Amino acid sequence: MNSFNNITQTKPLIKLISISSSVCIICLLVSTIILLSTTKVPEEYLKSSAHDVSAATNVEHLVFGLGSGRTLWPKRKDYVRLYWKPNKMRGCVFVGTLPNENNNDTSIPPLCLSSNTSKFHYIWGPKGHLAANRMARIVKDIVEMNYSNVRWYVFGDDDTIFFPENLVKTLSKYDHRLWYYLGAHSESYLSTQYFSFGMAFGGGGFAISSSLAKVLAKVIDSCLERYPYLYGSDARTYSCITELGVGLTQEPGFHQVDMRGNIFGLLATHPVTPLLSLHHLDLIDPIFPNMTTMKSLQHLFEAANVDSQRILQQTVCYHKNFSWTISVSWGYAIQLFPYTMTLPDALRVQLTNKHWNRGPNVFATLYNYNTKSLHHDPCKRSTIFYFHNVSHGKDGMIISSYRKSFGNCSYNMATLNKVEIINVFSKKLDLDIKQLQSPRRQCCDILPHSIDDLMEVAIRECKDEELIFMQ
Ligand SMILES: *[C@@H]1O[C@H](CO)[C@@H](O)[C@H](O)[C@H]1NC(C)=O
Ligand SMILES: *[C@@H]1O[C@H](CO)[C@@H](O)[C@H](O)[C@H]1NC(C)=O
Ligand SMILES: *[C@@H]1O[C@H](CO)[C@@H](O)[C@H](O)[C@H]1NC(C)=O
Ligand SMILES: *[C@@H]1O[C@H](CO)[C@@H](O)[C@H](O)[C@H]1NC(C)=O
Ligand SMILES: *[C@@H]1O[C@H](CO)[C@@H](O)[C@H](O)[C@H]1NC(C)=O
Ligand SMILES: *[C@@H]1O[C@H](CO)[C@@H](O)[C@H](O)[C@H]1NC(C)=O
Ligand SMILES: *[C@@H]1O[C@H](CO)[C@@H](O)[C@H](O)[C@H]1NC(C)=O
Repeated sequence: MNSFNNITQTKPLIKLISISSSVCIICLLVSTIILLSTTKVPEEYLKSSAHDVSAATNVEHLVFGLGSGRTLWPKRKDYVRLYWKPNKMRGCVFVGTLPNENNNDTSIPPLCLSSNTSKFHYIWGPKGHLAANRMARIVKDIVEMNYSNVRWYVFGDDDTIFFPENLVKTLSKYDHRLWYYLGAHSESYLSTQYFSFGMAFGGGGFAISSSLAKVLAKVIDSCLERYPYLYGSDARTYSCITELGVGLTQEPGFHQVDMRGNIFGLLATHPVTPLLSLHHLDLIDPIFPNMTTMKSLQHLFEAANVDSQRILQQTVCYHKNFSWTISVSWGYAIQLFPYTMTLPDALRVQLTNKHWNRGPNVFATLYNYNTKSLHHDPCKRSTIFYFHNVSHGKDGMIISSYRKSFGNCSYNMATLNKVEIINVFSKKLDLDIKQLQSPRRQCCDILPHSIDDLMEVAIRECKDEELIFMQ
C-alpha cells in the first residue's frame, strides 16, 4: 500500500518489473530448451535425490533390537518366528542373562546379552517395568555391535509381531540419512494421555533412522540417569529423543493394541496404510474364532504371505439389488450389513473389545479414533465372513475366500442367510512411493452371481472421479 503514496517511486518499479519479467521469460525459454534437448540431465539429478536412495531400501537395511528376558523368551519366540526371515533379517533378542544351552535355532534371531544397567535407578515403583533401563539401552547395545549398511533400527517387544515387507515399504518413504523417530501412540486415550501423544509406544514397535540412532546411543546413558521415575523403556527413549529436539513421525500401521478381548473392530477397519505390527496377543482373544492364538496368527500370515501390503486393507462396496453394504478387510474378514451404510460410517471402529484400563475411570472407554457401539439388535449387526483360504488364479489374480461365521439373527434374513462363502478377487498390491505418500482407498464391485450361497467381489483401483456410495 505504501507505494501508492509516491507515484514517482512506482514508475521505476514498474520498469524494473517489466525488465525483470522479460529476463525471466528469456530464462524460462532457455531453460525449457535445455530441458527439452537434454532430458537426461534432470533424470540423473532425480536419481541422486533423497527418495531414490530411500526407494532402494530393503529388509537387509534393517536391524531389529527386540527386548525379552531369559524366562519369557521360550514362551514368546514363536511370535517372532511368524515373521522372521532367517538369512535376510538382522538383529538380536536382548536378554538380561543368557541361558546355558547353546541357542542354534536359526529360524529366530539370536539371543544377545544386554549391557549391565544395574547402576541406573528405577523409582517408578516396585510393580513397574523393572527392566526398563536395560530395554532402553538396547539402542546403545545394538548400535555398538557395528552392523554394516544399516538404514533403520527397529525396536519392539518379544510379543510384537511385525510385517517386514510393509515395514520396508513404509520406511522407504523417508530418507534414513535424516533424523526420524517413527511409530504410533496407543489406541487408548487414557494410556496416551498418561504417557504422551508424542511417544512411540514400544509394544507397537518403532523405527529410528540410523543417523539418529547413532547419536541417541551416545547420549542415552545421561537420559537414563535423568528419568529414573518413568515407567517403561519407551518413555525413556521418547524423553531422550525429545531432548535431542526431535518429534515423533506418526505411522498408524504400528499397533500397540492396548485393549482386551475381541479386537475384531480394530482389524476390520484399518486405516489406508500398510499394517506394520500387532501386539499384546497374549491378552486378546484369538483373532479368528475357534482357533488358538498361535493358529489364528498363522492363519493371518497365510494371507499376508500372499499379499502383505493388502492385509487388512478395507474396501467397501454396495449390493444395489439387495441394498447391502459389504466391507472387506482383506485377508481377515468381510462384513455384510443388510442395509446401506455410508463409507464414513463404515470406517468407524466397532467396539467389539474390552477396555485396556479396568475400573471406573470414564476416560478408560475413550479411544484415539472414532468408535461405534455394537448394535443392541443382533439383526442390525453385520454378518461376518472370516478369511478361509487364498489361492492364485489366472493372470496374477489372487482369490481369497471367506466363510460365514455363526450369527445370532433369526428373522427376516432369508436372502442373506443363504450366502455362505464370499470370494474376493484382487491383484497383488505393490504401492509405489507416490501411492505411499498420497494413499487412496481402492474400490470394489459385486460380481453378478447366480449361485445363492456364493458371492463374488472384485477389488480394483478406483476411477478418477469415482465415489464410494450406494448408487
Ligand atoms: C541344535 O542343537 C541340538 C543339541 O545341541 C540338536 O539336537 C539340534 O539338532 C540342533 N538344531 C539345529 C537346528 O541345528
Ligand atoms: C551388574 O553389575 C553389578 C555391579 O557392578 C553386579 O553386582 C551385577 O552382578 C551385574 N549383573 C550382571 C547380570 O552381570
Ligand atoms: C565397533 O566399532 C568401535 C569403533 O570402531 C569399536 O571400538 C568396537 O569395539 C566395535 N564393536 C564391535 C562389537 O565390534
Ligand atoms: C468350531 O470347531 C468345531 C470343531 O471343529 C465345530 O464343530 C464348530 O462348529 C466350530 N464353531 C464355529 C463357531 O465355527
Ligand atoms: C479353499 O477352500 C475351498 C472350500 O473349502 C476349497 O474348495 C478350495 O480348494 C480351497 N483352496 C485352496 C487353495 O486351498
Ligand atoms: C449369541 O447370543 C448368545 C446369547 O445371547 C451369546 O452368548 C453369544 O455370544 C452370541 N453370539 C454371537 C456370535 O454374537
Ligand atoms: C442385479 O439385478 C440385475 C437385474 O436383475 C442383474 O442384471 C444384476 O446382475 C444383479 N446384480 C448382482 C450383483 O447380482
